[in-house]
This record gives sequence, structure tokens and C-alpha cells, in this order.
Amino acid sequence: MLKLIPVNKIKLVDIDEVNFDLIPRPANKKFSCQECFYWIGKKDGRLDQNAQKKKWFLRKNENYGSVGKLLYVGGEKLPIGFIQYGPIKEFDTAKLYYLKNGNLPKDGWCITCLMVDSKFRQQGLASEMVKKVLSELQKKGVKSVDAFPAVKTNSIDDTSAGTIQLWQKFGFRVIAEGSREVIMRKELNGRSKQKTSS
Ligand SMILES: CC(C)(COP(=O)(O)OP(=O)(O)OC[C@H]1O[C@@H](n2cnc3c(N)ncnc32)[C@H](O)[C@@H]1OP(=O)(O)O)[C@@H](O)C(=O)NCCC(=O)NCCS
Repeated sequence: MLKLIPVNKIKLVDIDEVNFDLIPRPANKKFSCQECFYWIGKKDGRLDQNAQKKKWFLRKNENYGSVGKLLYVGGEKLPIGFIQYGPIKEFDTAKLYYLKNGNLPKDGWCITCLMVDSKFRQQGLASEMVKKVLSELQKKGVKSVDAFPAVKTNSIDDTSAGTIQLWQKFGFRVIAEGSREVIMRKELNGRSKQKTSS
């Protein structure tokens, strides 16, 4: 790892109506976090994808407080990272991961997306975003958080949710293995068991 960026040079800001358009574009230009609904398009022909995602974000913010943050580091005017999270039930793609194993936690949350500009990687910034979000969710009373890193990727640019090792650093454990992604879980509030719904 390169030298860690000091915590006092890092700022995380909730995404809102004003800063939504500043969500940075990932290094791999085939992705756009301003348009992606975690891999499922919701285009209905009436609104463009970007406008729909913005609307979705603002509605979920109203319901849950915050479902995404922008990452700023000292000296940079624009955000250089992004994290997206929310109740699993709000992400259709995430729900699909549980179809086979039926281990969908009742009221469980997940972190779906994690992205840091390639110039700033391996300095602990993704880790800072995860740390901050986990602490916020714990305060909110969320009981468990899941993440869905890919089993294997050709390039770190193509991972929407980091690596298995990244989540292990935060105490997430693999609870189910798919052919492409694994489900990893961290229990919050010191609880070890949680009701599941199929
Ligand atoms: C995955 C990503 C978020 C990691 O960000 P980062 O700030 O470099 O991560 P950190 O420095 O906090 O590293 C945390 C852990 O992640 C893992 N990690 C980070 N970069 C890695 C790499 N290139 N290869 C393998 N593991 C890696 C390591 O386990 C690391 O812990 P360590 O430093 O103790 O080994 C970043 O590489 C990224 O943004 N990738 C592209 C994501 C994207 O654009 N996706 C498309 C849109 S959905």
C-alpha cells in the first residue's frame, strides 16, 4: 500500500439534489454510477437514466436518511470517490443473489458500490468510506450489512464492490458463494444471529 491519506484530509458528504451530478465517472468508461441502478436499467422511455437515478436517490434519501456518499480529499475540488448502500430490498440485483440460498436477512442492508479514482487508490480511501458507512449504519440500528464482491475479476476497474480481502478486513464473512459473486456479511450491534426471510 502507498502511504495512507491522513483522515483529516478526507471528507465524506451525503449525496443530495445539488451534488448528485458530481458522482465521479469510474475509470472504466463503460460504467456510469450516475445512471446505474446496480446493474439493472430502469429506463421507461419517459426519463433518461441519469434523471431516474437522481430521482431514486432523492426518494431513498427521504426514506432512509442517506444511501450514498461522495469522497473528497484535501486539495481536490471535485469528489474522487463514491459509495452506495441501502436496505437490500431496494436493490433488485442484490435480491437475486439470495434466490438460491434463501438467506436474505430481514431488514438487512448492503453496500453495493465502492469506487475510488485510479490516481488515489491503495491509500486506504475505500476503507475509510466503508468504515464511515458501517459506523453510521450501526448508529442507525441496522443489524447486518452485506457486500457482494466478485469471486474473480480481470481488472480492479471492473469490481463494483471491492475485493473479498477488503471486506474481510472489516470482519465480513463469506456466507454464500455464487459462480460470480459471493455474499459477505457483517453483523452489527454485537448480534450474531438474525431472522431470515426467503
Ligand atoms: C476497489 C477500490 C474501490 C479499492 O479502493 P482503494 O482506495 O484503493 O482501497 P484501499 O486502499 O482502502 O484498500 C483496501 C483493501 O482493498 C484491497 N485492494 C485494494 N486495491 C486492490 C487491488 N488493486 N488488488 C487487490 N486488492 C486490492 C486490499 O485488500 C486492500 O487492503 P490492503 O491495502 O491492506 O491490502 C478501487 O480499486 C476502485 O475504485 N476500483 C474500481 C471500481 C469501479 O470503478 N467499478 C466500476 C463501477 S461500479
